[in-house]
Amino acid sequence: MEERARSCLLRSKATLEQDIKASYLMDHMVSDGILTNDEESRVLGKPTRREQAAALLEVLLRKDNRAYISFYNALIRESYGDLANLLHRDLPLLSPEGERSFADGVSPSVQVILSEGGVPQRPVVFVSRPALLNLIREKLYRLQNTPGWVTVFGMAGSGKSVIAAEAIRDHALIKECFPGGVHWLSVGQCERADLLVRMQSLCFRLEQGQSSEASQRPPCSVEEAKERLRFLMLRRFPRSLLILDDVWDSSTLRSFDIQCRVLLTTRNRGLADSVSGEYFEVPVESGLDEEKGLEILALYVNGKPQKLPEQARSIVSECKGSPLVVSLIGALLREFPDRWSYYLRQLQKKQFKRIRKSSSYDYEALDQAMDASLQVLEPEHRDLYRDLSIMQNDVKVPAKVLSVLWDLELEEVEDVLQELVNKSLLFRDCNQRPYHYYLHDLQLDFLIEQNRDQIACSWLCLSPRVQRFTDRP
Ligand SMILES: Nc1ncnc2c1ncn2[C@@H]1O[C@H](COP(=O)(O)OP(=O)(O)O)[C@@H](O)[C@H]1O
Ligand SMILES: [Mg+2]
Repeated sequence: MEERARSCLLRSKATLEQDIKASYLMDHMVSDGILTNDEESRVLGKPTRREQAAALLEVLLRKDNRAYISFYNALIRESYGDLANLLHRDLPLLSPEGERSFADGVSPSVQVILSEGGVPQRPVVFVSRPALLNLIREKLYRLQNTPGWVTVFGMAGSGKSVIAAEAIRDHALIKECFPGGVHWLSVGQCERADLLVRMQSLCFRLEQGQSSEASQRPPCSVEEAKERLRFLMLRRFPRSLLILDDVWDSSTLRSFDIQCRVLLTTRNRGLADSVSGEYFEVPVESGLDEEKGLEILALYVNGKPQKLPEQARSIVSECKGSPLVVSLIGALLREFPDRWSYYLRQLQKKQFKRIRKSSSYDYEALDQAMDASLQVLEPEHRDLYRDLSIMQNDVKVPAKVLSVLWDLELEEVEDVLQELVNKSLLFRDCNQRPYHYYLHDLQLDFLIEQNRDQIACSWLCLSPRVQRFTDRP
Protein backbone atom coordinates (compact mmCIF):
# COMPACT_ATOMS: atom_id res chain seq x y z
CA MET A 1 0.00 0.00 0.00
CA GLU A 2 1.14 3.49 -0.83
CA GLU A 3 2.88 5.33 1.99
CA ARG A 4 0.32 8.13 1.92
CA ALA A 5 -2.62 5.76 2.22
CA ARG A 6 -0.90 3.84 5.00
CA SER A 7 -0.25 6.88 7.07
CA CYS A 8 -3.78 8.08 6.60
CA LEU A 9 -5.07 4.78 7.98
CA LEU A 10 -2.69 5.01 10.89
CA ARG A 11 -3.67 8.60 11.55
CA SER A 12 -7.36 7.76 11.55
CA LYS A 13 -6.96 4.47 13.39
CA ALA A 14 -8.35 5.57 16.73
CA THR A 15 -11.45 7.16 15.20
CA LEU A 16 -12.07 4.20 12.94
CA GLU A 17 -11.70 1.69 15.75
CA GLN A 18 -14.13 3.61 17.81
CA ASP A 19 -16.88 3.70 15.21
CA ILE A 20 -16.81 0.97 12.60
CA LYS A 21 -18.58 -2.35 12.68
CA ALA A 22 -16.07 -4.66 11.03
CA SER A 23 -18.51 -7.44 10.21
CA TYR A 24 -20.56 -5.17 7.92
CA LEU A 25 -17.56 -3.75 6.13
CA MET A 26 -15.95 -7.13 5.64
CA ASP A 27 -18.95 -8.41 3.68
CA HIS A 28 -18.12 -5.90 0.95
CA MET A 29 -14.42 -6.49 1.14
CA VAL A 30 -14.82 -10.24 0.82
CA SER A 31 -17.00 -9.84 -2.22
CA ASP A 32 -14.45 -7.41 -3.71
CA GLY A 33 -11.99 -10.27 -3.40
CA ILE A 34 -9.85 -8.25 -0.99
CA LEU A 35 -10.31 -10.32 2.18
CA THR A 36 -10.29 -14.09 2.34
CA ASN A 37 -12.92 -15.95 4.34
CA ASP A 38 -10.15 -17.03 6.69
CA GLU A 39 -9.15 -13.48 7.38
CA GLU A 40 -12.76 -12.57 7.97
CA SER A 41 -13.24 -15.42 10.46
CA ARG A 42 -10.10 -14.46 12.31
CA VAL A 43 -11.33 -10.91 12.73
CA LEU A 44 -14.76 -12.09 13.82
CA GLY A 45 -13.06 -14.35 16.37
CA LYS A 46 -12.15 -11.31 18.46
CA PRO A 47 -14.49 -10.88 21.42
CA THR A 48 -15.51 -7.22 21.18
CA ARG A 49 -16.59 -4.92 18.37
CA ARG A 50 -13.66 -2.66 19.01
CA GLU A 51 -11.13 -5.46 18.92
CA GLN A 52 -12.66 -6.68 15.69
CA ALA A 53 -12.26 -3.21 14.22
CA ALA A 54 -8.63 -3.09 15.32
CA ALA A 55 -7.96 -6.53 13.86
CA LEU A 56 -9.50 -5.55 10.53
CA LEU A 57 -7.27 -2.48 10.35
CA GLU A 58 -4.23 -4.64 11.12
CA VAL A 59 -5.07 -6.92 8.22
CA LEU A 60 -5.75 -3.96 5.98
CA LEU A 61 -2.40 -2.33 6.66
CA ARG A 62 -0.63 -5.39 5.35
CA LYS A 63 -2.46 -5.18 2.03
CA ASP A 64 -2.23 -3.12 -1.15
CA ASN A 65 -3.90 -0.03 -2.58
CA ARG A 66 -6.91 -1.94 -3.74
CA ALA A 67 -7.62 -2.91 -0.16
CA TYR A 68 -7.64 0.73 0.87
CA ILE A 69 -10.09 1.57 -1.91
CA SER A 70 -12.30 -1.38 -1.11
CA PHE A 71 -12.36 -0.37 2.56
CA TYR A 72 -13.24 3.18 1.54
CA ASN A 73 -16.07 1.95 -0.68
CA ALA A 74 -17.35 -0.27 2.10
CA LEU A 75 -17.50 2.72 4.45
CA ILE A 76 -19.58 4.61 1.92
CA ARG A 77 -21.92 1.71 1.40
CA GLU A 78 -22.44 1.32 5.12
CA SER A 79 -23.22 5.03 5.48
CA TYR A 80 -20.04 5.92 7.32
CA GLY A 81 -19.76 8.98 5.07
CA ASP A 82 -17.86 11.03 7.64
CA LEU A 83 -15.28 8.29 8.12
CA ALA A 84 -14.93 7.82 4.39
CA ASN A 85 -14.15 11.54 4.20
CA LEU A 86 -11.18 10.99 6.46
CA LEU A 87 -9.73 8.59 3.90
CA HIS A 88 -10.81 10.38 0.77
CA ARG A 89 -7.88 12.72 0.32
CA ASP A 90 -5.38 9.91 0.35
CA LEU A 91 -7.13 7.53 -1.99
CA PRO A 92 -4.30 5.93 -3.94
CA LEU A 93 -4.06 6.26 -7.68
CA LEU A 94 -4.31 2.79 -9.02
CA SER A 95 -2.06 1.80 -11.84
CA PRO A 96 -4.13 0.66 -14.80
CA GLU A 97 -2.84 -2.85 -14.21
CA GLY A 98 -4.04 -2.78 -10.64
CA GLU A 99 -7.38 -1.38 -11.64
CA ARG A 100 -7.76 -3.99 -14.30
CA SER A 101 -7.19 -6.90 -11.98
CA PHE A 102 -9.65 -5.32 -9.58
CA ALA A 103 -12.24 -5.11 -12.32
CA ASP A 104 -11.53 -8.65 -13.27
CA GLY A 105 -12.60 -9.39 -9.73
CA VAL A 106 -16.11 -8.93 -11.10
CA SER A 107 -17.43 -12.46 -10.92
CA PRO A 108 -18.23 -14.30 -14.13
CA SER A 109 -21.93 -14.12 -13.34
CA VAL A 110 -21.80 -10.34 -13.05
CA GLN A 111 -19.70 -10.21 -16.20
CA VAL A 112 -22.51 -12.00 -17.99
CA ILE A 113 -25.09 -9.59 -16.56
CA LEU A 114 -23.06 -6.66 -17.86
CA SER A 115 -22.53 -7.94 -21.35
CA GLU A 116 -26.09 -9.16 -21.70
CA GLY A 117 -27.17 -5.70 -20.66
CA GLY A 118 -25.08 -4.16 -23.43
CA VAL A 119 -22.76 -2.28 -21.09
CA PRO A 120 -19.81 -0.95 -23.13
CA GLN A 121 -16.39 -2.23 -22.30
CA ARG A 122 -13.71 -0.11 -20.77
CA PRO A 123 -11.63 1.78 -23.34
CA VAL A 124 -8.17 0.32 -23.83
CA VAL A 125 -6.54 3.44 -22.50
CA PHE A 126 -8.27 4.16 -19.27
CA VAL A 127 -7.47 6.15 -16.15
CA SER A 128 -9.35 5.76 -12.92
CA ARG A 129 -11.35 8.59 -11.40
CA PRO A 130 -11.91 7.12 -7.95
CA ALA A 131 -13.63 10.04 -6.27
CA LEU A 132 -16.14 10.47 -9.09
CA LEU A 133 -16.67 6.75 -9.34
CA ASN A 134 -17.42 6.45 -5.67
CA LEU A 135 -19.81 9.35 -5.78
CA ILE A 136 -21.83 7.67 -8.52
CA ARG A 137 -21.79 4.32 -6.76
CA GLU A 138 -22.84 5.93 -3.54
CA LYS A 139 -25.86 7.48 -5.28
CA LEU A 140 -26.69 4.19 -6.98
CA TYR A 141 -26.80 2.56 -3.56
CA ARG A 142 -29.60 4.98 -2.71
CA LEU A 143 -31.69 3.20 -5.31
CA GLN A 144 -31.34 -0.07 -3.47
CA ASN A 145 -34.79 0.06 -1.96
CA THR A 146 -36.54 2.63 -4.05
CA PRO A 147 -36.98 3.53 -7.69
CA GLY A 148 -35.43 6.81 -8.80
CA TRP A 149 -32.86 8.57 -10.92
CA VAL A 150 -29.14 9.08 -10.73
CA THR A 151 -28.15 11.75 -13.21
CA VAL A 152 -24.56 12.04 -14.36
CA PHE A 153 -24.23 15.32 -16.19
CA GLY A 154 -21.40 17.17 -17.86
CA MET A 155 -20.30 18.33 -21.22
CA ALA A 156 -19.68 16.20 -24.24
CA GLY A 157 -16.47 14.27 -24.16
CA SER A 158 -16.04 14.67 -20.42
CA GLY A 159 -16.18 10.94 -19.85
CA LYS A 160 -19.78 10.44 -18.69
CA SER A 161 -20.49 7.27 -20.61
CA VAL A 162 -17.14 5.76 -19.67
CA ILE A 163 -17.59 6.50 -15.98
CA ALA A 164 -21.23 5.35 -15.97
CA ALA A 165 -20.21 1.98 -17.39
CA GLU A 166 -17.36 1.81 -14.91
CA ALA A 167 -19.66 2.56 -11.99
CA ILE A 168 -21.79 -0.49 -12.62
CA ARG A 169 -18.80 -2.74 -13.20
CA ASP A 170 -18.96 -3.61 -9.53
CA HIS A 171 -19.76 -6.99 -8.17
CA ALA A 172 -21.19 -5.88 -4.85
CA LEU A 173 -23.30 -3.10 -6.33
CA ILE A 174 -24.94 -5.40 -8.86
CA LYS A 175 -25.52 -8.17 -6.37
CA GLU A 176 -26.89 -5.92 -3.67
CA CYS A 177 -28.84 -3.33 -5.61
CA PHE A 178 -29.58 -4.61 -9.10
CA PRO A 179 -29.80 -8.38 -8.96
CA GLY A 180 -32.39 -8.18 -11.75
CA GLY A 181 -29.70 -7.02 -14.15
CA VAL A 182 -28.72 -3.87 -16.00
CA HIS A 183 -29.95 -2.66 -19.36
CA TRP A 184 -27.92 -0.11 -21.29
CA LEU A 185 -29.66 2.04 -23.87
CA SER A 186 -27.82 4.58 -26.02
CA VAL A 187 -30.36 7.29 -26.60
CA GLY A 188 -28.59 10.26 -28.17
CA GLN A 189 -30.23 13.16 -29.89
CA CYS A 190 -33.17 11.53 -31.56
CA GLU A 191 -36.51 12.23 -33.15
CA ARG A 192 -39.60 10.46 -31.93
CA ALA A 193 -39.37 7.83 -34.64
CA ASP A 194 -35.80 6.99 -33.64
CA LEU A 195 -36.83 6.92 -30.04
CA LEU A 196 -39.53 4.40 -30.82
CA VAL A 197 -37.01 2.17 -32.58
CA ARG A 198 -34.75 2.30 -29.57
CA MET A 199 -37.58 1.52 -27.17
CA GLN A 200 -38.66 -1.34 -29.37
CA SER A 201 -35.22 -2.83 -29.31
CA LEU A 202 -35.13 -2.53 -25.55
CA CYS A 203 -38.52 -4.26 -25.27
CA PHE A 204 -37.27 -6.94 -27.60
CA ARG A 205 -34.18 -7.48 -25.47
CA LEU A 206 -36.23 -7.70 -22.29
CA GLU A 207 -38.76 -10.05 -23.82
CA GLN A 208 -36.18 -12.43 -25.18
CA GLY A 209 -36.29 -15.85 -23.63
CA GLN A 210 -39.78 -15.23 -22.25
CA SER A 211 -41.42 -18.21 -23.86
CA SER A 212 -45.15 -17.48 -23.91
CA GLU A 213 -45.19 -13.91 -25.13
CA ALA A 214 -41.96 -14.06 -27.03
CA SER A 215 -43.79 -13.54 -30.25
CA GLN A 216 -45.43 -10.28 -29.13
CA ARG A 217 -45.52 -7.70 -31.86
CA PRO A 218 -43.32 -4.66 -31.27
CA PRO A 219 -45.06 -1.64 -29.73
CA CYS A 220 -46.20 0.76 -32.45
CA SER A 221 -46.03 4.06 -30.62
CA VAL A 222 -43.80 5.61 -28.01
CA GLU A 223 -46.74 5.58 -25.57
CA GLU A 224 -47.31 1.89 -26.11
CA ALA A 225 -43.59 1.20 -25.74
CA LYS A 226 -43.58 3.12 -22.48
CA GLU A 227 -46.40 1.00 -21.07
CA ARG A 228 -44.72 -2.17 -22.24
CA LEU A 229 -41.49 -1.14 -20.57
CA ARG A 230 -43.32 -0.21 -17.40
CA PHE A 231 -44.77 -3.69 -17.24
CA LEU A 232 -41.50 -5.40 -18.07
CA MET A 233 -39.46 -3.46 -15.57
CA LEU A 234 -42.01 -3.85 -12.80
CA ARG A 235 -42.95 -7.48 -13.25
CA ARG A 236 -40.14 -9.16 -15.06
CA PHE A 237 -37.12 -7.18 -14.01
CA PRO A 238 -37.78 -5.70 -10.61
CA ARG A 239 -34.67 -4.36 -8.96
CA SER A 240 -32.85 -3.90 -12.22
CA LEU A 241 -31.15 -0.79 -13.51
CA LEU A 242 -31.87 0.97 -16.77
CA ILE A 243 -28.99 3.07 -18.05
CA LEU A 244 -30.07 5.81 -20.43
CA ASP A 245 -26.94 7.09 -22.05
CA ASP A 246 -26.84 10.61 -23.44
CA VAL A 247 -30.40 11.88 -23.24
CA TRP A 248 -30.90 15.34 -24.73
CA ASP A 249 -34.40 16.48 -23.97
CA SER A 250 -37.05 16.12 -21.35
CA SER A 251 -39.74 14.78 -23.64
CA THR A 252 -37.51 11.80 -24.43
CA LEU A 253 -36.81 11.33 -20.78
CA ARG A 254 -40.50 11.35 -19.89
CA SER A 255 -40.92 8.28 -22.08
CA PHE A 256 -38.91 6.42 -19.46
CA ASP A 257 -40.72 7.84 -16.47
CA ILE A 258 -41.97 4.43 -15.43
CA GLN A 259 -41.07 4.13 -11.77
CA CYS A 260 -37.92 2.13 -12.23
CA ARG A 261 -34.28 2.63 -11.34
CA VAL A 262 -32.41 4.71 -13.85
CA LEU A 263 -28.84 5.84 -14.32
CA LEU A 264 -28.90 8.73 -16.74
CA THR A 265 -26.08 10.49 -18.56
CA THR A 266 -26.75 13.82 -20.17
CA ARG A 267 -25.23 17.14 -21.08
CA ASN A 268 -28.36 18.78 -19.94
CA ARG A 269 -28.46 19.42 -16.25
CA GLY A 270 -31.83 19.50 -14.60
CA LEU A 271 -33.37 17.15 -17.12
CA ALA A 272 -34.57 14.90 -14.35
CA ASP A 273 -36.68 17.78 -13.03
CA SER A 274 -39.25 16.77 -15.58
CA VAL A 275 -39.82 13.29 -14.22
CA SER A 276 -41.20 11.91 -11.01
CA GLY A 277 -39.48 10.15 -8.17
CA GLU A 278 -36.31 10.61 -6.18
CA TYR A 279 -33.28 11.83 -8.00
CA PHE A 280 -29.64 12.34 -7.28
CA GLU A 281 -27.19 14.34 -9.34
CA VAL A 282 -23.51 13.82 -9.97
CA PRO A 283 -21.64 16.48 -11.94
CA VAL A 284 -18.71 15.39 -14.09
CA GLU A 285 -16.05 18.01 -14.47
CA SER A 286 -15.35 18.91 -18.05
CA GLY A 287 -11.65 18.27 -17.76
CA LEU A 288 -9.40 15.89 -15.93
CA ASP A 289 -6.77 17.39 -13.72
CA GLU A 290 -3.29 17.69 -15.12
CA GLU A 291 -1.99 14.49 -13.55
CA LYS A 292 -4.76 12.39 -15.06
CA GLY A 293 -4.35 14.04 -18.43
CA LEU A 294 -0.66 13.22 -18.36
CA GLU A 295 -1.46 9.68 -17.31
CA ILE A 296 -3.58 9.24 -20.44
CA LEU A 297 -0.83 10.60 -22.68
CA ALA A 298 1.69 8.35 -20.95
CA LEU A 299 -0.47 5.29 -21.48
CA TYR A 300 -0.79 6.07 -25.15
CA VAL A 301 2.93 6.40 -25.66
CA ASN A 302 3.78 3.58 -23.25
CA GLY A 303 5.82 5.81 -21.03
CA LYS A 304 5.80 7.10 -17.49
CA PRO A 305 4.01 10.39 -16.76
CA GLN A 306 7.18 11.80 -15.18
CA LYS A 307 9.19 11.04 -18.29
CA LEU A 308 6.95 12.76 -20.82
CA PRO A 309 8.47 15.61 -22.84
CA GLU A 310 8.08 19.13 -21.55
CA GLN A 311 5.27 19.94 -24.01
CA ALA A 312 3.00 17.36 -22.39
CA ARG A 313 1.65 19.67 -19.70
CA SER A 314 0.85 22.40 -22.19
CA ILE A 315 -0.90 19.90 -24.42
CA VAL A 316 -3.10 18.75 -21.56
CA SER A 317 -3.88 22.32 -20.69
CA GLU A 318 -4.67 23.28 -24.31
CA CYS A 319 -7.03 20.30 -24.40
CA LYS A 320 -8.63 21.71 -21.25
CA GLY A 321 -8.10 18.25 -19.81
CA SER A 322 -10.99 16.91 -21.91
CA PRO A 323 -10.60 13.13 -21.81
CA LEU A 324 -11.82 12.89 -25.37
CA VAL A 325 -9.44 15.47 -26.77
CA VAL A 326 -6.47 14.26 -24.76
CA SER A 327 -7.18 10.75 -26.04
CA LEU A 328 -7.29 11.92 -29.62
CA ILE A 329 -3.95 13.64 -29.26
CA GLY A 330 -2.57 10.66 -27.34
CA ALA A 331 -3.47 8.34 -30.19
CA LEU A 332 -1.69 10.64 -32.63
CA LEU A 333 1.41 10.75 -30.49
CA ARG A 334 1.51 7.00 -30.24
CA GLU A 335 1.91 6.96 -33.96
CA PHE A 336 4.21 9.97 -34.29
CA PRO A 337 6.25 10.08 -31.10
CA ASP A 338 8.34 13.05 -32.19
CA ARG A 339 5.48 15.38 -32.89
CA TRP A 340 4.92 16.77 -29.41
CA SER A 341 5.83 20.32 -30.41
CA TYR A 342 3.94 20.06 -33.64
CA TYR A 343 0.66 19.03 -32.03
CA LEU A 344 1.09 21.57 -29.31
CA ARG A 345 1.51 24.29 -31.94
CA GLN A 346 -1.54 23.03 -33.77
CA LEU A 347 -3.56 23.20 -30.60
CA GLN A 348 -2.30 26.67 -29.85
CA LYS A 349 -2.92 28.12 -33.30
CA LYS A 350 -6.63 28.58 -32.83
CA GLN A 351 -7.37 29.72 -36.33
CA PHE A 352 -10.86 28.53 -36.78
CA LYS A 353 -13.42 29.39 -39.32
CA ARG A 354 -16.12 27.83 -37.31
CA ILE A 355 -18.30 29.84 -35.03
CA ARG A 356 -17.88 28.78 -31.50
CA LYS A 357 -20.85 26.77 -30.42
CA SER A 358 -22.87 28.22 -27.63
CA SER A 359 -22.61 24.91 -25.81
CA SER A 360 -20.25 24.78 -22.91
CA TYR A 361 -18.00 22.35 -24.72
CA ASP A 362 -14.82 23.80 -26.03
CA TYR A 363 -15.38 22.89 -29.63
CA GLU A 364 -12.23 24.64 -30.70
CA ALA A 365 -10.02 22.23 -28.89
CA LEU A 366 -11.90 19.33 -30.37
CA ASP A 367 -11.74 20.73 -33.87
CA GLN A 368 -8.03 21.10 -33.57
CA ALA A 369 -7.64 17.59 -32.35
CA MET A 370 -10.00 16.18 -34.95
CA ASP A 371 -8.42 18.13 -37.70
CA ALA A 372 -5.01 16.92 -36.71
CA SER A 373 -6.25 13.32 -36.68
CA LEU A 374 -7.78 13.70 -40.11
CA GLN A 375 -4.63 15.19 -41.58
CA VAL A 376 -2.63 12.06 -40.91
CA LEU A 377 -5.07 9.85 -42.77
CA GLU A 378 -4.33 9.03 -46.35
CA PRO A 379 -6.52 11.20 -48.58
CA GLU A 380 -8.61 8.22 -49.64
CA HIS A 381 -9.25 7.19 -46.09
CA ARG A 382 -10.04 10.74 -45.17
CA ASP A 383 -12.77 10.77 -47.78
CA LEU A 384 -14.15 7.50 -46.51
CA TYR A 385 -14.15 8.87 -43.01
CA ARG A 386 -15.97 11.99 -44.12
CA ASP A 387 -18.67 9.80 -45.62
CA LEU A 388 -19.44 8.61 -42.11
CA SER A 389 -21.16 11.92 -41.49
CA ILE A 390 -24.35 10.23 -42.63
CA MET A 391 -24.22 7.89 -39.65
CA GLN A 392 -26.70 8.69 -36.95
CA ASN A 393 -25.91 9.62 -33.41
CA ASP A 394 -25.22 6.60 -31.29
CA VAL A 395 -26.11 4.17 -34.04
CA LYS A 396 -23.65 1.34 -34.30
CA VAL A 397 -23.11 -0.46 -37.56
CA PRO A 398 -21.28 -3.61 -38.57
CA ALA A 399 -18.52 -3.53 -41.18
CA LYS A 400 -20.92 -4.94 -43.75
CA VAL A 401 -23.02 -1.78 -43.78
CA LEU A 402 -19.91 0.29 -44.35
CA SER A 403 -18.90 -1.95 -47.16
CA VAL A 404 -22.15 -0.95 -48.87
CA LEU A 405 -21.64 2.69 -48.05
CA TRP A 406 -18.07 2.71 -49.27
CA ASP A 407 -18.57 0.20 -52.01
CA LEU A 408 -15.53 -1.81 -50.94
CA GLU A 409 -14.78 -5.44 -50.17
CA LEU A 410 -15.42 -6.40 -46.59
CA GLU A 411 -11.74 -7.14 -45.96
CA GLU A 412 -10.69 -3.72 -47.23
CA VAL A 413 -13.32 -2.14 -45.05
CA GLU A 414 -12.02 -4.00 -42.02
CA ASP A 415 -8.52 -2.68 -42.67
CA VAL A 416 -9.74 0.88 -42.89
CA LEU A 417 -11.84 0.46 -39.76
CA GLN A 418 -8.86 -0.89 -37.87
CA GLU A 419 -6.90 2.19 -38.79
CA LEU A 420 -9.69 4.53 -37.73
CA VAL A 421 -10.15 2.72 -34.44
CA ASN A 422 -6.42 2.90 -33.74
CA LYS A 423 -6.55 6.63 -34.21
CA SER A 424 -9.52 7.00 -31.85
CA LEU A 425 -11.48 8.36 -34.78
CA LEU A 426 -13.96 5.56 -34.52
CA PHE A 427 -15.11 3.32 -31.73
CA ARG A 428 -15.62 -0.40 -31.79
CA ASP A 429 -18.20 -2.21 -29.71
CA CYS A 430 -16.78 -5.63 -28.98
CA ASN A 431 -19.88 -6.72 -27.08
CA GLN A 432 -21.56 -7.45 -30.36
CA ARG A 433 -20.58 -10.05 -32.95
CA PRO A 434 -19.77 -9.11 -35.61
CA TYR A 435 -18.18 -6.01 -34.10
CA HIS A 436 -20.15 -2.81 -34.47
CA TYR A 437 -18.60 0.59 -35.12
CA TYR A 438 -19.68 4.05 -34.12
CA LEU A 439 -18.55 7.63 -33.93
CA HIS A 440 -18.43 9.69 -30.80
CA ASP A 441 -21.16 12.28 -31.10
CA LEU A 442 -18.59 15.06 -31.06
CA GLN A 443 -16.82 13.53 -33.98
CA LEU A 444 -20.09 13.21 -35.80
CA ASP A 445 -20.88 16.86 -35.07
CA PHE A 446 -17.53 17.78 -36.49
CA LEU A 447 -18.00 15.76 -39.68
CA ILE A 448 -21.52 17.03 -40.24
CA GLU A 449 -20.31 20.57 -39.78
CA GLN A 450 -17.53 19.99 -42.27
CA ASN A 451 -19.85 18.49 -44.83
CA ARG A 452 -22.76 20.81 -44.29
CA ASP A 453 -21.81 23.38 -46.89
CA GLN A 454 -21.40 20.81 -49.56
CA ILE A 455 -24.62 19.04 -48.70
CA ALA A 456 -26.51 22.31 -48.72
CA CYS A 457 -25.05 23.20 -52.11
CA SER A 458 -26.33 20.32 -54.05
CA TRP A 459 -26.51 16.61 -54.37
CA LEU A 460 -23.84 16.85 -56.97
CA CYS A 461 -21.34 17.82 -54.38
CA LEU A 462 -21.82 14.60 -52.45
CA SER A 463 -19.35 11.91 -53.12
CA PRO A 464 -20.73 9.30 -55.49
CA ARG A 465 -20.42 6.67 -52.78
CA VAL A 466 -22.80 8.51 -50.47
CA GLN A 467 -25.20 9.12 -53.30
CA ARG A 468 -25.31 5.45 -54.10
CA PHE A 469 -25.99 4.63 -50.50
CA THR A 470 -28.68 7.19 -49.88
CA ASP A 471 -30.40 6.32 -53.14
CA ARG A 472 -30.95 2.81 -51.96
CA PRO A 473 -34.57 2.04 -51.03
N1 LIG B 1 -11.45 7.57 -17.55
C1 LIG B 1 -11.01 7.70 -18.81
N2 LIG B 1 -9.75 7.30 -19.12
C2 LIG B 1 -9.27 7.43 -20.38
N3 LIG B 1 -9.97 7.94 -21.39
C3 LIG B 1 -11.22 8.37 -21.15
C4 LIG B 1 -11.81 8.27 -19.86
N4 LIG B 1 -13.05 8.78 -19.91
C5 LIG B 1 -13.23 9.17 -21.20
N5 LIG B 1 -12.14 8.91 -21.94
C6 LIG B 1 -11.95 9.21 -23.38
O1 LIG B 1 -12.85 10.23 -23.75
C7 LIG B 1 -13.77 9.75 -24.72
C8 LIG B 1 -15.14 10.30 -24.43
O2 LIG B 1 -15.66 9.76 -23.25
P1 LIG B 1 -17.24 9.55 -23.08
O3 LIG B 1 -17.46 8.85 -21.80
O4 LIG B 1 -17.80 8.94 -24.29
O5 LIG B 1 -17.71 11.07 -22.95
P2 LIG B 1 -19.19 11.64 -22.81
O6 LIG B 1 -20.12 10.49 -22.62
O7 LIG B 1 -19.13 12.54 -21.63
O8 LIG B 1 -19.45 12.41 -24.05
C9 LIG B 1 -13.70 8.24 -24.62
O9 LIG B 1 -14.00 7.63 -25.83
C10 LIG B 1 -12.27 8.00 -24.21
O10 LIG B 1 -11.41 8.02 -25.33
MG1 LIG C 1 -21.59 9.72 -23.82
